[in-house]
Amino acid sequence: MSTDTWNAVDDYLTATLVKPDADLEAALRDSEAAGLPAIAVSAPQGKLLHLLARIQGVRNILEIGTLGGYSTIWLARALAPGGRIISLEIDPKHAAVARANLARAGFANQAQVRVGRALDSLEELARESAGPFDFVFIDADKQSNAEYFAWALKLSRRGTVIVVDNVVRKGAVADAASEDPAVQGVRRLNQAMAAEPRVAVTAMQTVGAKGYDGFALALVVA
Ligand code: SAH
Ligand code: DHB
Ligand code: MG
Repeated sequence: MSTDTWNAVDDYLTATLVKPDADLEAALRDSEAAGLPAIAVSAPQGKLLHLLARIQGVRNILEIGTLGGYSTIWLARALAPGGRIISLEIDPKHAAVARANLARAGFANQAQVRVGRALDSLEELARESAGPFDFVFIDADKQSNAEYFAWALKLSRRGTVIVVDNVVRKGAVADAASEDPAVQGVRRLNQAMAAEPRVAVTAMQTVGAKGYDGFALALVVA
């Protein structure tokens, strides 16, 4: 089984079922033109986030790691009328691209991109009593995953859904001896989630246009 097959299947699923539209495609195009790395979620992954958020009936979403706003648009499209999404991004250039992409997609008033270290922005959100959020998507620097998860919990209520991207890392997550800081970050996250009685959690391996990786899904139950 090769990455060619994974790409072909993702292309097929995207064309037949997912149907991303002009605004999503323009967001990717302008992200690439601005030199942003091509690490946004794939179209099927974006639609999965959208559907999970819609199932949840979201009014208030928190995203950690904006890039060009591609996943932000998928999530914003799940918002109930009057709902809002706050997305945290350290790189002002990424944030500027994301804001333009979000505005074109019609979310200038519903989406806020906050520039800064996510750990600082999270503290700020807590001070502002911005939570509780209905849905949290964690997709920034992987070393800080465990801290992001702790903040996500603080900003949650019973019933909040937390999704974490990139938790399999080509299978390296199973290697306890890995010296890759991202892998160590994911393993620390998994320990933190496993030790946390407030959540029920699983993780799924995925293949597709983004290669071999996976996501974790946690439900806040208390
Ligand atoms: N969620 C996006 C992809 C995010 S890529 C999508 O799927 O479309 C990860 C992003 O996290 C990058 O834009 C990077 O600049 C940002 N990032 C990295 N470290 C960060 C930090 N400490 N605080 C906030 N954002 C960070
Ligand atoms: C990387 C980050 C991501 O969020 C992703 O989905 C894929 C790759 C990275 O930093 O390499
Ligand atoms: Mg990711």
